[in-house]
Amino acid sequence: EFDGVIAIDGPSGSGKSSVSRRLATELGAACLDTGAMYRAATLAVLRSAVSLTDTATIIKVVEDTGFEFGTTPEDRYTRIEGENVDDAIRGPEVTAHVSAVSGIPEVRRHLIAAQRAIIADAAHGIVVEGRDIGEVVAPDADLKIYLTADPAERAKRRSGQNGADLAATAADIHRRDTADAKTTRPHDAAPGAVVVDTTHLDLDQVVTALHELLAHKT
Ligand code: C5P
Repeated sequence: EFDGVIAIDGPSGSGKSSVSRRLATELGAACLDTGAMYRAATLAVLRSAVSLTDTATIIKVVEDTGFEFGTTPEDRYTRIEGENVDDAIRGPEVTAHVSAVSGIPEVRRHLIAAQRAIIADAAHGIVVEGRDIGEVVAPDADLKIYLTADPAERAKRRSGQNGADLAATAADIHRRDTADAKTTRPHDAAPGAVVVDTTHLDLDQVVTALHELLAHKT
């Protein structure tokens, strides 16, 4: 039975979330969507109506807010003070501001500590997905994957998911990847990571490839 840590990094629309969720379910492991954590922090900041230039107060809001992240296949959720916010954190307002909040070093430090605690608690293994997982959050992961895909394909997948216009989605992905590149490295694989280009692969094919990589590693 798998009880290790799998780190999955990649830019928006690379398929990280769907692939990670499916892989975790098939392994009977937990799955941590670290993007959801940065999104929840951003929603808490937006709700508190603090100015987005007031970094010190933003840090305080993030540190003082009660977040909960359910990571098991049967029980996956994001909560702020007990309220489920899974839909709210995917909205355009959060997406527009998440890079500004995730770019604050103290916010990252706080959430990375929370991520490491969740990883340490995972009894049956965990798939962790996001931006700086293989390099910063879980450098000792048993398997590190960097998922990537052509920008046009990534935009197509994202607009298919949220029903938004293709050109607007492509522009938004590009804007966010560029902003994120200041703090994380969305375009680079972590040392020791296996690069998987998903441009011409469907979900089943990617998940099968990851099972094979895992079998070789462990
Ligand atoms: O993956 P998702 O689109 O939900 O990520 C939302 C945002 O959260 C990213 O654009 C990035 O700013 C931030 N993020 C991060 N580090 C992670 C995961 C997400 O900075 N590990």
